[in-house]
Amino acid sequence: MLVTATAPGKVNLFLETAGPRPDGYHELTTVFQATALRETVTVETASTMRITVDGRGAEDVPTDSSNLVWQVAEKVLPQVPVHLHITKAIPTAGGMAGGSADAAAALVACNQLRDEPLTVEELDAIAASLGSDINFVLHGGTMLGSGRGEVLTPLTSPGALWWVFATQREGLSTPAVFREHDRAHAWSDQKSVTPLTEALSAGATAAELAPLLFNRLQQAALTLRPELEQTLRAGEDAGALRGIVSGSGPTTAFLCAGESEARTVAEALKHGRTCLDTVITTTPSPGARVASNARD
Ligand code: C5P
Repeated sequence: MLVTATAPGKVNLFLETAGPRPDGYHELTTVFQATALRETVTVETASTMRITVDGRGAEDVPTDSSNLVWQVAEKVLPQVPVHLHITKAIPTAGGMAGGSADAAAALVACNQLRDEPLTVEELDAIAASLGSDINFVLHGGTMLGSGRGEVLTPLTSPGALWWVFATQREGLSTPAVFREHDRAHAWSDQKSVTPLTEALSAGATAAELAPLLFNRLQQAALTLRPELEQTLRAGEDAGALRGIVSGSGPTTAFLCAGESEARTVAEALKHGRTCLDTVITTTPSPGARVASNARD
């Protein structure tokens, strides 16, 4: 039996931190949106556990038990070896939750192979045990995230928003960005998410949302990668409503007024050589979904 599932990447419209916790994670207040750019994972029972990968940045993806999809399969299908094939579309190590999307797609695909499928609550518990963003990409849409990002409350989704994501040759380590943030950040000022959530409920346009975008991790990412300043400037100069670092970076996200503006921004960024590549996509998008389920 062969099951294929897809799951979205994410962009954080807002991300505020509230201090490191004893477990090493940070309390977050974040607004997630799922991207139409999606990962695809196919799962098939096999004689031994195996992962294969193709698509964007496939060479950077581990194919051993360190890959989250392996850990998902072991939890959802204990004692059942499977072949997991990942087709990457989301840039790797870029702050867009590509690895988490692989895990979420693997969760729903492996669940289809069980005689007794796990409940949504059980899938959520596995997701939270493996990472902070997996719960969101499992559910998708537009959500307020708290805790370390795994506690979710649905928010009103605005209409489709157009984005350009600009990738970099070298990824950034999320723990390294949090460490730099802890070193440099004075914890006194806390930004409120309310203006953004109110704007979302009121059906704000991209132009109205743009000034409300916020990422507390941006300064740390820029300290580690000062050249990202140029990328942000180039995208805004080319007509983006706003450029921000995506999550812990180094991918930058440019909110645009529409499709043609996004194409102009992507072209300018490619020619300006301040990034490796660009991807145009929209938000929001649904969470992890089974795309096909074929019995041999
Ligand atoms: O949960 P995930 O594996 O995505 O997190 C990767 C790393 O990012 C964690 O090990 C931690 O260093 C940092 N992190 C954090 N606080 C969060 C989420 C992630 O410090 N809320």
